[in-house]
Amino acid sequence: MSERRRPVKRHKNTGTKTYSETVLGGYYDKYVGGLFGKFDNVRVYWEDQITKYTLRPYLKRYLAAVQDRRKVRILDLGCGSGQGYEQLSKIGKRDVSLALKDSFILPAERISLYFGVDISEEMLEKGRENYADKREVVFRKMDLRNGLDERVVGKRPYDIYFSSYAALSHLDYGQARKLVSDIAKHSAPHALLVLDFLGRYSIEWPRYWDAKSEDQKMREYSMSYLYTNGALSEEEPEKFTLRFWTGDEIAGLCEEVRKESGISVRPLEVFDRSVFVGRHVDTREYNKWVKPLRKRVNRLHEDYMRTNLQSLIIDRVPETSIEQLRRFYEKGIFSWNTVIKFTGMRLKGRIYPTEMKGWSKFSPALQQAILNMDRVVDSVLWMSIGDPRANIIEPQLSYSLRNMLNNMQCGMGCGHGLVAILQVRKRK
Ligand SMILES: C[S@@+](CC[C@H](N)C(=O)[O-])C[C@H]1O[C@@H](n2cnc3c(N)ncnc32)[C@H](O)[C@@H]1O
Repeated sequence: MSERRRPVKRHKNTGTKTYSETVLGGYYDKYVGGLFGKFDNVRVYWEDQITKYTLRPYLKRYLAAVQDRRKVRILDLGCGSGQGYEQLSKIGKRDVSLALKDSFILPAERISLYFGVDISEEMLEKGRENYADKREVVFRKMDLRNGLDERVVGKRPYDIYFSSYAALSHLDYGQARKLVSDIAKHSAPHALLVLDFLGRYSIEWPRYWDAKSEDQKMREYSMSYLYTNGALSEEEPEKFTLRFWTGDEIAGLCEEVRKESGISVRPLEVFDRSVFVGRHVDTREYNKWVKPLRKRVNRLHEDYMRTNLQSLIIDRVPETSIEQLRRFYEKGIFSWNTVIKFTGMRLKGRIYPTEMKGWSKFSPALQQAILNMDRVVDSVLWMSIGDPRANIIEPQLSYSLRNMLNNMQCGMGCGHGLVAILQVRKRK
């Protein structure tokens, strides 16, 4: 907030060049995994999992209420190469099961149609290639800036209107409101909506935090993080304009849709995803002092690769005059650092969680994360095969940090992603 306001740059393009190049570079193929790229470890072990975990109870309830257990129809908005199909059809019934066979709440057999729409031909072509063996998966070109078009409106309603990985940040406020309003009018009576945006208050871009006008909420973005390993063109990454959202604005949008259409679209849950580990903490493109934590957390998940825990400590709390935001960052950074420090001390010798200074004042989320790490370290002490520190303790540290932040976030817009799960309420 202390930075002087800069003139807002508007880019007329929609990122088409970036998306074509990322498809050609193989980033939209199926799972790759690892330290870099679209499917890096944070994407796979944090982002995908948190979305699935949060959606699970609502989807479960919806599916239980659908008459005769009929098959469901999904519309994926800004579907890219169809990863939404993967996400939705692979939500496990439980959190952990030691049984070999996993079971999903919305398996492929229960999907009658997955209709993916996107503006990019290359993305759609990649999707058709990825899902060539799935008859229920269909892709079509559609520009969502105009709302839902005639290939959707006038046809049967969908049960789930899904979006993922900030696809809807390509729309401005008015376009997003029209899209949600079109969905409310078209949808099944209790349909679920998943709206996926960029969060305005992420630590990646403090200079975007004090946006007031609609113009200032549409800001520059690039996908430079996918250009780091030379797989993409040598040219400067394309810059385009996206809208950065807050949780309050999503609630306001729902209210406007209700007034305009007479249909209630109720937020069931709004959550911040990827707090501290958004893609641009590594590039530092929009914040020069932010710690490159994503690659370090990615490293925690790598087999036989040990991480210097000190490198994960966050040493600066961002300044802001927004009180709720300041409190969130102070508490979040303190909690993050405390779990890491405890783990470091625990690895060196015996320290009990309750011996931590201030233990009784720690939040339940922080206490839970520390207790988890205490048990993890305890339970692997006897192991001598397969580097338990790199292969068990460090991934568990990442999961403990992930769950703690997920329990602390309040859907303000403090993560790279801001996701809203909404439900339509109207008579049949
Ligand atoms: C970050 S990607 C996410 C893709 C996919 N949902 C995923 O999770 O991998 C954003 C997508 O939105 C699409 N998009 C951008 N503007 C659009 C528009 N006006 N209408 C439809 N799709 C659009 C892009 O082509 C791109 O595939």
